[in-house]
Order: sequence, then C-alpha cells, then structure tokens
Amino acid sequence: MVAETGLSCNDLVQPIFVDERISEPKAIDAMPGQFRLSLESVAAEAQVLEDLGLSAVLLFGLPAQKDEMGSAAYDPQGIIQKAVAAIKETTNLIVITDLCLCEYTSHGHCGLVKGEKILNDETLPILGETAVSHALAGADIVAPSGMMDHMVQAIRTALDLDGYTDTPILSYSAKYASTFYGPFREAAESGFAWGDRKGYQMNPANFSEALWEVQLDIEEGADMVMVKPAMPYLDVLRAVKDMFAMPTAAYQVSGEYSMIAAAAARGWLDERAAFMESLTCIKRAGADMIITYWAKEYARLGL
Ligand code: PBG
Repeated sequence: MVAETGLSCNDLVQPIFVDERISEPKAIDAMPGQFRLSLESVAAEAQVLEDLGLSAVLLFGLPAQKDEMGSAAYDPQGIIQKAVAAIKETTNLIVITDLCLCEYTSHGHCGLVKGEKILNDETLPILGETAVSHALAGADIVAPSGMMDHMVQAIRTALDLDGYTDTPILSYSAKYASTFYGPFREAAESGFAWGDRKGYQMNPANFSEALWEVQLDIEEGADMVMVKPAMPYLDVLRAVKDMFAMPTAAYQVSGEYSMIAAAAARGWLDERAAFMESLTCIKRAGADMIITYWAKEYARLGL
C-alpha cells in the first residue's frame, strides 16, 4: 500500500535482434538468455511476447551485406523493413525501430565517414530516408540512436514530406559513450573498425550537456526522449523527467543485463530479484518506459 512505484508490462520494451543471415535463432554468448532471430522466426516470437502481455518491441537489424554507406539500412527490402512488416501482420505490438547506421556500415560507425572523420551533416539525409522506409514498412515509432546533431529535425522533415506526419520519434537524446554497450557489439555486430564513439556520444562525466541535448531534440520535434544507459545515469533521468515533463525512456543496456546475468550464473546474485529491483529503481527515477532485455522474463512472471 505504501509502494510509490509499480511496474507493469506496459512500461517495458523488449529489444529484438533480427539477423538476415541465419535460418534459426542463434544464442548471443555475451548476453546469456538472449538470441538473434531469423526473419522466419521473428513473427512467432513477437506473437509469444504479445501473448505474454507485452505491448512494444524495439527492432535491430543485422544485414547480410554491409558497405561504407550503410545502404542496407534504407533498402525497402532490407531485414528490418521485412521484420517490421512480418510482426505488424501477425500482432498488434507497437513496433519501434532502431534507426542507426552502425549495424549497416562496414566501418561500424553511426554516420558516414571520410578518413577517420564522421560526416555528421552528410549522414542526415540517409537517416531521413531510413526513417521513411521504416514507416512505409509499418513501424509505429522510429528511434534514432546515432547521436548525430540535428538528426531529429532531419527525420521529422523527411517523414512529414512523405506523409508520415503521425509517426512519432523516440530520440536517444542523452546517449553516453558507455563501456556498458560492450555485449551489444556482439549481439548486433556493430563494433567499429577504428576509433570510438566519443565524438558523437556523450562524456559520462557530463550532466548539464545531457539537458541541453534533450532540449535540442525536443525543439527539433522529438516526441519522446531517452537516457541511455540507465542505472549509472539515474540522476540524469530524474532531471530530464522533471525538467521537460516529456514521455521519457530509459535503456537498460546490454552491459547492465550481462553483469547481472553473469553474477547470477555464478550464484552471486538472485537474477529475478536483481532485475526487478533495477527496473523498479529506473522507473522510480523517472522512466515512463524502460527498454530492457528482461521484458519477456518479467512478462513471464505474470505479475
Ligand atoms: C547503435 C546502438 C547501440 C546500442 C543501441 N543502439 C550501440 C552503440 O551505440 O555503440 C546499445 C544497446 C545496448 O548496449 O544494449 N547506435
């Protein structure tokens, strides 16, 4: 009766990795209990998630071919576009698509590059085109995660021009250059060939800059904003929610998942208690929605 925070399936978003090159689910070593799915299996899995009571998924695509331009990202017949269509055909789930080039570029960066320089502005039209291809495939929400400056404005403009005025943007507004993304690099094969992401993602030491990043995204037309990772950045999450009163998402990232899963596998932590506590605390800190690899597990508990 005195609990100030409760969790429900409606708060949680399950990430799904769809791999164009496989024909059956493949375990992700660095994330025990998580799998990459084939296009053939994705609709069935989505159905299971819906039946368990979840309402939203976040899709990541692993294309068969990568190139300098990340052109598979905006291919109308690309893996993500096909996966969205397959899920929308069989379920009523809200399908959110990750909108970034890093899974599609041969160098693994989130934007186009020249030498070892990221070409921010040249990347923007590609993000716009990718957003339109996702919306055309049936995506309900697009979620740009590349931290390119002015990506929200470019995507909003592109969507509106093509008539997708009602497709909302969930922007990864305050995304830190975090070591906790480590296991995701295996999951999505989005490791970079050289350099790092510190030129476009945020310095973990910074707080005020996060507020500025969020404000810019809102001004550019973001409908929902995100803080990522979650647990090391709960102060930022609280401030973003209080200051902007926007629908606010937190991403409990791969490293946050794997740390608990690994400790649990050794008997050092109770996995269920640990993820329940972490999710409750992320919600308490201001998240309206939490992207978590435990969404399915949570739903299975039938709470
Ligand atoms: C791609 C992207 C990343 C994650 C989500 N989208 C990796 C990165 O930015 O390096 C990380 C998710 C996770 O670790 O679970 N831009």
